Amino acid sequence: MSRSNSQLLRVAEAGRAPVSFFLDGVEVGALTGDTVLTAILMQQRHVRHSEFSGEPRAGFCMIGACQDCWVRCEDGARIRACSTLVKEGMRIVTKGAR
Ligand code: FES
Repeated sequence: MSRSNSQLLRVAEAGRAPVSFFLDGVEVGALTGDTVLTAILMQQRHVRHSEFSGEPRAGFCMIGACQDCWVRCEDGARIRACSTLVKEGMRIVTKGAR
């Protein structure tokens, strides 16, 4: 379920129901109740790149306060990854979404 280059490693609650979503056009898995931030960081090491430096970002506060985790859906909707639960079929873009 996680890739070898993931930022996070799941060590508990691995028995929750699986959810599929699309990350940069590729179907991947998460678990029901995961935030979008957790779901993305189980797959890769960043959620977006900084508009200013271009450096990869992986969130900071994890409580919806710092705005370091904004990502876009393919439909253009902007969501705060740390405070949004991943949903079946969600289509998230982390590459080239400025
Ligand atoms: S990580 Fe700070 S608002 Fe999401």
